[in-house]
Amino acid sequence: MQGSSLPIIKTAIPGPRSVELVDELSRTECPAITARRARRTLESGVPQDPIVWHKAKGANVEDVDGNVYVDLTAAFAVAGLGHGHPRVLAAAHAQLDQLVHAMGDVYPSDQKIAFCKRLAELTPADLQQSILGLSGSDAVEAALKTAAIHTGRPGIIAFWGGYHGLSYGALAATSYRNSFRKPFIAQLNPHVRHIPYPDLYRPPFGLAHSATPTEISNACLAHLRAMLSSPATGSEEIGALIIEPIQGRGGEVVPPSGFLAGLRALCDEFGLVLIFDEIFSGFGRTGAMFACDHECVVPDILCVGKGMAGGFPLSAAIGKPQIMASWGLSSGESIHTSTFLGNPLGCAMALAVLDVLVEENWPRRVAILGDVLLARLQKLQSRFPDLIGEVRGRGLMLGIDLVIDPATRAPHPNLAIELMDHCRSRGYLVLPSGIHGNVLAISPPFVITDAQLDGFFTVLEEGLARHP
Ligand SMILES: Cc1ncc(COP(=O)(O)O)c(C=O)c1O
Repeated sequence: MQGSSLPIIKTAIPGPRSVELVDELSRTECPAITARRARRTLESGVPQDPIVWHKAKGANVEDVDGNVYVDLTAAFAVAGLGHGHPRVLAAAHAQLDQLVHAMGDVYPSDQKIAFCKRLAELTPADLQQSILGLSGSDAVEAALKTAAIHTGRPGIIAFWGGYHGLSYGALAATSYRNSFRKPFIAQLNPHVRHIPYPDLYRPPFGLAHSATPTEISNACLAHLRAMLSSPATGSEEIGALIIEPIQGRGGEVVPPSGFLAGLRALCDEFGLVLIFDEIFSGFGRTGAMFACDHECVVPDILCVGKGMAGGFPLSAAIGKPQIMASWGLSSGESIHTSTFLGNPLGCAMALAVLDVLVEENWPRRVAILGDVLLARLQKLQSRFPDLIGEVRGRGLMLGIDLVIDPATRAPHPNLAIELMDHCRSRGYLVLPSGIHGNVLAISPPFVITDAQLDGFFTVLEEGLARHP
């Protein structure tokens, strides 16, 4: 397995060893975590018994049965540079010999200091000061706390279909799936208000399918303005607005051009802290270093994670100094910290990732490859116009919107699962996304080869052609 290999499928999928290990796992892991066939639901979006991963390189993953797959998920958009990038592994090995753990807010490591400096250099404009965390949710929590401390207002605006993580603070902002929120609803921040995302394919507010991007954008901005101007919900109460500049799990939804600038203007007018959640879209995935670069809009706080550290759990909320200053100085015991904050191993790996991204100009390369892929997806759509309602996305954050009927745009989640099953049985890993689970997400490692993509398209086309 080189990283550029085509699939090698030796057993039924999942293979016998995977089945055995998942059975074993089911005895010692909370049953709500790993989906098994017996318990699968459509909403979980993961229909099959899992394969158990054993190793991975580049765009390849090998399971415990020796089957080799091509990964078009980049393992939740983490393996941007590919699994096990040699420079990232070398940085990790070197750091393992030096220092594995330091004392985050008390005695920082040299790697943490270098990493914060590098982040400040790479992020747009005056986004200069970071709060590090381990997960994407951590970064979102840090951003929401920062906004609350800065404005003194508890209210938050978030968007339909938005995914910001599942820890309590982040979950209150997440609207993506009701099932995530339902059991905990009584404990979630009641000051969060969800408003429509300007989805061009399924426009909000009952707008016609023929509504233009400008009409959709204006309707969403007018709705927000009305909310902020109302004494009940307005500037007295709301201090933050959090948005994914391109929705990831929500189904690779790209807002109309100018929408983010409209949000920036409203946040300035009403004194809201604007938070961009680029945990999915950051670090080259959309063909720019950050998705907000496409629109030249700078938030007050940028949340990043996933692809930043080559697979090590590391995230950051990066803010403008005048906003971060609202926290005041640490008086010896930080009021926002954790045991592993700024872990040196993660920081060393992230530094290597950022070096490779910049030196090898990956955002540009992703933009070029993304355009080629989107054109291929459009061609596929023209072959299957009854099944594919839309293909969309930016860079390597692409989605195939599967529909029951292109006229009504009714989502077809069963087809997404059918295609995912088919592709996996032929050695290609994809996941469904979207609030209805009907979007086949294509977010491969940037290093995926032409031959691997050719193989994927052949199999995908075969799956679509087989659909009754
Ligand atoms: C945009 C976005 N924000 C936040 C998160 C949460 O990150 P984590 O699962 O690392 O907590 C995700 C995860 O998919 C995400 O896509």
